[in-house]
Amino acid sequence: IAAEKGEYRHFMQKEIHEQVRSLTDTLAGRVDFDKGLIQLPQLKLTAETARKINKIIITACGTAQHAGLVGKIYIEKIARIPVEVDIASEFRYRDPIIQPGTVVLSISQSGETADTLAAMEEGRQKGAILWSIVNAIGSQAMRVADGYISMQVGPEIGVASTKAFTAPLVDLYMLAVLLADLRGTLPVEQRKKLVNDLRMIPDLAGKCLEHEPEVMSIARDMKDARDALYLGRGINMPIAYEGALKLKEISYIHAEGYPAGEMKHGPIALIDKDMPVIALAPNDPWYEKMASQIEQAKARGGKVIAVATEGDKNVEHLADSCLWVPSIPWMLSPVLTVIPLQMLAYHIASIRGLDVDQPRNLAKSVTVE
Ligand code: G6P
Repeated sequence: IAAEKGEYRHFMQKEIHEQVRSLTDTLAGRVDFDKGLIQLPQLKLTAETARKINKIIITACGTAQHAGLVGKIYIEKIARIPVEVDIASEFRYRDPIIQPGTVVLSISQSGETADTLAAMEEGRQKGAILWSIVNAIGSQAMRVADGYISMQVGPEIGVASTKAFTAPLVDLYMLAVLLADLRGTLPVEQRKKLVNDLRMIPDLAGKCLEHEPEVMSIARDMKDARDALYLGRGINMPIAYEGALKLKEISYIHAEGYPAGEMKHGPIALIDKDMPVIALAPNDPWYEKMASQIEQAKARGGKVIAVATEGDKNVEHLADSCLWVPSIPWMLSPVLTVIPLQMLAYHIASIRGLDVDQPRNLAKSVTVE
């Protein structure tokens, strides 16, 4: 196993660094950049089916559910189909409403998570169209679905999921474009632009990784924190959840991800100099709101670490320190903004001398309810 880690100390670090490759692989064979077209053959989606879909319910657990929350924005924004995102362990216990034309879409790295499979079963029984986005080839979630998208990122060993988070973001974006195209609601020029934006993703992920030395220095400052608050809005709100989840999973530091606009309804009471606030403030439509959120946290004595777009002097001035990501069209920003947060959690846990790949009490795949 040591050999498979190559130059890296842990699988998680290797898998973070593999994201240039895995993002290339998840696009491979699906995107025709010349024509600006998406193909997802294993989804077996026809124009007729695409037109009759009236609702998509995304179900998943853990990190995969956070990917689903970003996917909701993609599908609603690009394809204008209403999307609900549900925690798989909740879904089947609330007698969900499934009508003809409802899709249940499960996201799972392992394809064997018991709660996710049970949610699919619930969808099947109620007559939903069943789709999955899965990494492990031949897994149950792949086999029972009517159609699937394979993440194509290769095995993920680290318990804390990384490359199997960024890949489904891109897969959901491609799905949104394909749905809109098949429904005839996406103007050609817009489709070409959306598809072309995918081209730069792997390279830009690589640029995020180049900032690892600065991330390590912030990790050293944060290593003794007892709590941390991650704030985001809009398309980067799920990245606040995911950044907090990464930190608690492997460093055992208590962390909360919160929609930044809700800060004033509670978490603001917790802010003091000992509680780092990680604020997602890249160039997206919620940027101004996040900038003022940073000011509010600063006004209460908080220490703010911002995830921001390279060259953003405004946020650089407002925050105590910055985790930089390159500029990218806003819809794809979550693919980049999560990368410094993966590295931050990794380095904090690693400095604390913890078993990053095998955190206590956690399993890579939870096959019991
Ligand atoms: C476990 C893992 C998480 C993962 C979740 C869902 O809790 O530790 O990293 O996100 O299961 O797993 P899945 O295989 O369904 O994506």
